[in-house]
Amino acid sequence: MSEPDQTTNFGFRDVPLGDKQHLVNSVFHSVASRYDLMNDLMSGGLHRVWKNIMVNTLDPPRGERPFALLDVAGGTGDIAFRAAKASGSGFRATVCDINADMLRVGQERAVKQHLDDRVSFVEGNAEQLSFPDRAFDGYTIAFGIRNVPRIDHALSEAWRVLKPGSRFLCLEFSTVDMPGLDRLYDLFSFNVIPPLGRAITGDAESYRYLVESIRKFPKPAAFAEMIRAAGFARVNWQSLSGGIVALHSGWRL
Ligand SMILES: C[S@@+](CC[C@H](N)C(=O)[O-])C[C@H]1O[C@@H](n2cnc3c(N)ncnc32)[C@H](O)[C@@H]1O
Repeated sequence: MSEPDQTTNFGFRDVPLGDKQHLVNSVFHSVASRYDLMNDLMSGGLHRVWKNIMVNTLDPPRGERPFALLDVAGGTGDIAFRAAKASGSGFRATVCDINADMLRVGQERAVKQHLDDRVSFVEGNAEQLSFPDRAFDGYTIAFGIRNVPRIDHALSEAWRVLKPGSRFLCLEFSTVDMPGLDRLYDLFSFNVIPPLGRAITGDAESYRYLVESIRKFPKPAAFAEMIRAAGFARVNWQSLSGGIVALHSGWRL
């Protein structure tokens, strides 16, 4: 539904709040089939390290104890697969994403990796989850929240679906804070990533959006404040790779 009086950013463009999700969906529709390859190329494989740090921090049980993870904006299933491999027989993950193309790629990967009995895929919007209150033992969202138009709604939904005593983890691009690295990172982001996106997916514009949206995302302290405002306690974050990425954490107590 369009909300003409409110605007938000779609990369560096101001767009009506109600239009952002549609624009984001076309980005991921366009890149879905080459998404995983592009992640490796853009990050030089570093996204694997960041995702492993997230899963290690989640620390799902290695035994039979039941543990239900909700991985929102889970796309092609990377976080859920890593968590499944790091955990025991009681582990189940639900990957929730708004984009059916990303989920289809994820489902195919789950079958290939023999994880389809422990990882399921559900189409849904982070802002309005279809799951009951207090249903999950962990909530993860990796490189997803900056694409969501109403971040505050997504955070409130995360809190709602978590059981008391369980953890919210969010991996997201952040603000590079190492002198020298910041300029190199800007050069790489704006001059290398869109042409690389064109070469691999045929779509430079989608990757220009991804790079711009990183710059528009709130700084870590401001985002931590939003997590607190949603009701989470013991909120903190860890800067990774000179601030390229931050891992945010909060607990529903
Ligand atoms: C950059 S991908 C991240 C995928 C995966 N988490 C990973 O780390 O590889 C961002 C994902 O967010 C999804 N997304 C965007 N808006 C969403 C929303 N409102 N609700 C759920 N998923 C959303 C997109 O469809 C896309 O799959």
